[in-house]
Amino acid sequence: MTYVPFNDLSRIHKNTIDDSFRVFKKIVNKSQFVLNDYIKNFEKDFASYTKQKYSISCANGTDAIELILRGLEIGHGDEVILPTNSFIATSIAVSRCGATPVFVDNDEFYLIDTEDVKRKITKRTKAIIAVNLYGQMADLNTLSKITKKNDIYLIEDAAQSHGAHDLNFKNVGDYSIAAAYSFYPGKNLGAWGDGGGVTTNNKKLSEKLSALRVYGSEKKYYHKYQGFNSRLQPFQGYVLSKKLLELDAWNQERLEIAKTYNEAFKNCSRVITPKTFHKNKHVWHLYVLRVKNRNKVIKEALKFGVELSIHYPVPIHKQLAYKNHKQSSFKFNNADSFSKNIVSLPIFPKMKKTEVTKVIDTLVKVSQ
Ligand SMILES: Cc1ncc(COP(=O)(O)O)c(C=O)c1O
Repeated sequence: MTYVPFNDLSRIHKNTIDDSFRVFKKIVNKSQFVLNDYIKNFEKDFASYTKQKYSISCANGTDAIELILRGLEIGHGDEVILPTNSFIATSIAVSRCGATPVFVDNDEFYLIDTEDVKRKITKRTKAIIAVNLYGQMADLNTLSKITKKNDIYLIEDAAQSHGAHDLNFKNVGDYSIAAAYSFYPGKNLGAWGDGGGVTTNNKKLSEKLSALRVYGSEKKYYHKYQGFNSRLQPFQGYVLSKKLLELDAWNQERLEIAKTYNEAFKNCSRVITPKTFHKNKHVWHLYVLRVKNRNKVIKEALKFGVELSIHYPVPIHKQLAYKNHKQSSFKFNNADSFSKNIVSLPIFPKMKKTEVTKVIDTLVKVSQ
C-alpha cells in the first residue's frame, strides 16, 4: 500500500544536502557562528523578495511577533486584537509582552472577521494582528481603514503566507507597519531548524528591532533597550537564501494541487472546500476543508495510508493556557464550529499526481 504523508520535506532538500554541508563546514572552520554574511545576505534577499525595504531575521516566528510588539512599545495595560482561529503563537507573543490578547472570530474564508474586530476595539486597543492564515492574505484593505480610523497599529502574522499577495497586487507587509514570518521547517519557506523574521518599510522600527534582537544594543556592550537574544543561526541564512530561489515554483505546485482538490470535491456534498478571498494570490500553506465526523474521517483515511491533520483542533481562547482569560468560555460562531469539522489535506511541493489522486479517492470513500 502506498503511504501518503502529510508532508515530505526530504523531497525538496535532497539536491541541496551536499552543498549545504560544505557551507556548514566552512562556517565551523571560520568560527562565524553569529549574524555573519549568510544572515546579512538572506535579509537582503528576503527584503527584495517580499518587496519591503527592511528585513530583520530572528530565532523564530513567535519572537518575530514579539519583536514587533516590543518595538511598538506595546505592553502592560494594552490590548491586541487577534483571531482565535490561529496557531497559539500569535497570542503567546502578545501575552509575553504583558499585553492582553483580545480574541475575535474568523469569517467563512477562515480569516480574521473584520466586523468582529470593529466590535472589540476599546480605548486600550493598541494593535490588530491580522493572521494570513493557511496562505492567504486577510482583508487587510478593510483592516487598514479600521486601524487608521482608530489610530492603532496593523501588524501581519505572515508565518503561513510567504509570497502571497492580494487582488490589488499588494504584497504581504504593504498594508501593515510590519509583518512577522516563521521559517519553521514545514512552512512554505522553511529553515533546517527554527527561524523567523520581520519585514517593514519603517526605517526607525527596523533599526530598533535589529537592536532588540541582540539584547537591545546598537553597539556592543551598550544597551539602549531591554531587548532579548533572538538570532537566526548563520547556517539557516544560507539554507533560506538557497530555498528562496525556488519558493515561487513551490508555491505554484501547491496552487496546482489545491486546484485539483477544489475541482475533485466541487460536486461532493459531504465536503466543504476552502474559499479564496477576493482573488487573493493564495500560497496554500494548508488546504483546509470541512467534513462531518472529522475525527472518524482522519482515522479511516490513515487505514488507507493517507495522513491528514487538523489546524487547529482547539481555538486559542479555549486552550488550557488561556483558562483564566475572560473570553475563555466565550462563543465564537465560526471558530467554534469550524474547529470541530476542519481537516487539512496533504499539500506540498514534489507531491506526486498519484498521491493527490489517492488523497481524493480516499476522502470520497471515508467521508460517506
Ligand atoms: C500563524 C502562526 N503564527 C506564528 C507561528 C510561530 O512561528 P514559530 O513556530 O517559528 O515560532 C506559526 C508557526 O508555527 C504560525 O503558524
